[in-house]
Amino acid sequence: MKKSNIILAALITCFSATAQKSEIKSSIENVESKVDSVLSLMTLEEKVGQLVQYNGSWDLTGPASELGSKQKEDNLKRGMVGSMLNVLSVDATTEAQKLVMENSRLKIPLMFGYDVIHGYKTIFPVPLGETASWDLEAMEETARIAALESVAHGVNWTFSPMIDISKDARWGRIMEGSGEDPYLTSLVAIAKIKGYQGDDLADPKTIAATAKHFAGYGFSEAGRDYNTVHVGENELHNTILPPFKAAADAGVATFMNSFNDLDGTPATGSKMLQRDILKQDWNWDGFVVSDWGSITEMVNHGFARDRKHAAEIALKAGSDMDMEGGAYESSLVELVNEGKVDEALINDAVKRVLRVKFKMGLFEDPYRYSNPELAAQLNMEEHRQVARDVAKKSIVLLKNEKNLLPLSSSVKNIAVIGPLADDKNTPIGNWRAQGEANSAVSILEGVKNAVGKNVKVTYAKGADLGVGERSFLKPLEINTTNKSGFKAAVDAARKADLVILALGEDAFQSGEGRSQVNIGLAGVQMELMKEIYAVNKNVVLVLQNGRPLEISWAAENIPAIVVAWQLGTESGNAIADVLFGKYNPSGKLPVSFPRAVGQEPLYYNQKMTGRPTNPTDVTYSAYTDEEKTALYPFGYGLSYTTFKYGDIKLSSNEMTQDGSIQVTVPLTNAGSKAGKEVVQLYLRDLVASTTRPVKELKGFELVELQPGETKEITFTITNDLLEFYNAEKKWTSEPGEFQVMIGGNSMDLKTDSFQLN
Ligand code: BGC
Repeated sequence: MKKSNIILAALITCFSATAQKSEIKSSIENVESKVDSVLSLMTLEEKVGQLVQYNGSWDLTGPASELGSKQKEDNLKRGMVGSMLNVLSVDATTEAQKLVMENSRLKIPLMFGYDVIHGYKTIFPVPLGETASWDLEAMEETARIAALESVAHGVNWTFSPMIDISKDARWGRIMEGSGEDPYLTSLVAIAKIKGYQGDDLADPKTIAATAKHFAGYGFSEAGRDYNTVHVGENELHNTILPPFKAAADAGVATFMNSFNDLDGTPATGSKMLQRDILKQDWNWDGFVVSDWGSITEMVNHGFARDRKHAAEIALKAGSDMDMEGGAYESSLVELVNEGKVDEALINDAVKRVLRVKFKMGLFEDPYRYSNPELAAQLNMEEHRQVARDVAKKSIVLLKNEKNLLPLSSSVKNIAVIGPLADDKNTPIGNWRAQGEANSAVSILEGVKNAVGKNVKVTYAKGADLGVGERSFLKPLEINTTNKSGFKAAVDAARKADLVILALGEDAFQSGEGRSQVNIGLAGVQMELMKEIYAVNKNVVLVLQNGRPLEISWAAENIPAIVVAWQLGTESGNAIADVLFGKYNPSGKLPVSFPRAVGQEPLYYNQKMTGRPTNPTDVTYSAYTDEEKTALYPFGYGLSYTTFKYGDIKLSSNEMTQDGSIQVTVPLTNAGSKAGKEVVQLYLRDLVASTTRPVKELKGFELVELQPGETKEITFTITNDLLEFYNAEKKWTSEPGEFQVMIGGNSMDLKTDSFQLN
């Protein structure tokens, strides 16, 4: 045995002994010295190898992609690869790991990454939808289950949570995040990271998480994916970065950078973001993986001359691992030898990768996540129950005229109509990991499961929404002409007591590369809706959607509207739970629904402008052909009961920076059903050294009340809630007057104020 192998073997044995003693708790205190020991044994080539990530598309004959499977296999054997993505099964991950462990000089285990975005096999609501539950415990639980199911296939690293703030419904990836608000998104980020990573990354029931995309991707201009981002420092620090800071503080193992150009610098090549803010100011010790090929794409951006130059820029900027781009692999050794890249920077990147691998316990047992015994964790019945529970909590009731919902027992003849009514694929959504196509409970199935024998359920599709193949990479062709099913649908509607009309978006209308200039009901759906409504006014419109939709006509005419996003495996049952009143809806929008696409980007936490109102002429900030407000604002959602807010009481009207104020509001369930309300706290800094939003969410509480019951809800305002990135580039609060607002959505609020001294 060579000296280096002896030292490494000794290190590994020592780690194994430690592991046995403390079972799964890795000895984090010693991680740094272990990382240094391993690093000291590595050649430059081996170091660069740790910064390379290969795509697997793994089958047992080997990984296939650009390099060719044989060459990839050789590089794995030589220890020239740090991690792989899309290698999915115990056998495949074991085989890949073996190539490294049985052949390479230093035997540094691989990590296996995958886009586990809203579940692995059991699929939960798309992230935008799940955020509508405002239920952080539920969101943590679905991440915990996603982790369990991932490790059942040897996957130990997810590229999630996606915490890009997005205010633009045109952007297809809005469905992957938590919407427009930095405070809510930060809390979701923390919940998700906790769910994925647990308390100990070395626990084989947990996986490493990734905060992505760092940063600004959600602001892609005109909602066009991968487009340039123009944001100033103020917006960057106050809106885009807070969820990432929260993720870093929560100990997220990795970050992913982003494709976009941010004010002239591609984020992947941004030293300011990766080295200065993330690693230095925030003192975060994990590693940054590039987005797919985003290092090499800096050549397209016109920011790098060629792939080698791109590698130099990215490494210097603090991008540690190259996802399937080939830039680091082909150029970093040469760049160091030519003196263009300091080896100390390579060492720092490698240490970051090794640190995560140590924390994951991979050096103790490289196969700990490729354990056939964990396979039983896949798709357990209990996971489906959680999927149903979180799905029903994610549903948002937008309109309910004359209490059409919940459906009364006098409804004996229901027509379930629409292209998405019996669609078992759409609820699985995009970024579906190993969720099987056509595996969800459809609305029709959910309704049939819910009704008794005395209720007649008829089904008519009406029309197709899309035509042809549904797949991750291909654009979806929308049916704009075929209305041959209309007649049967209209007949069914005419004969029914009530119509459940299932419209919206196909799973593959949102997600990566799925930006749209129209966000209404695509194809022939509007026509279908109007024809159905013409013969039966008792219509419950159930929308399935991955983005806010433009639904002004429906909002005006259709008596009941339910937003059911893409809710995952148990979708239809969860929708039926709400429609039939088994669950009283409690979801609230995490994103504004516009009146017209021309309002996008639309968000509640806007700035005041110099001309907010002027009722006498047109010279103020508004539109001449449409209201400027949202059709349904951020935080909005109805219940089958009604909640009454009393007046706000403050414990004091003055506060110092080291003090706090208690703000209390009485909330009464004034209706006849038990229900849950998301009580929301907003603050406004009236005058500051930079302009501040008209209101910002700064707290919320999910409160359950019985009919007639009243509860006092208390929020504590502390200085950290008043801080922002100010004109002096500092996170601080500034003395002055603040407004406090509390209510059940961002527009309908009780107000008071206090002074910060
Ligand atoms: C996406 C990332 C994703 C990666 C790996 C990229 O195209 O932007 O979010 O994690 O692919 O699949």
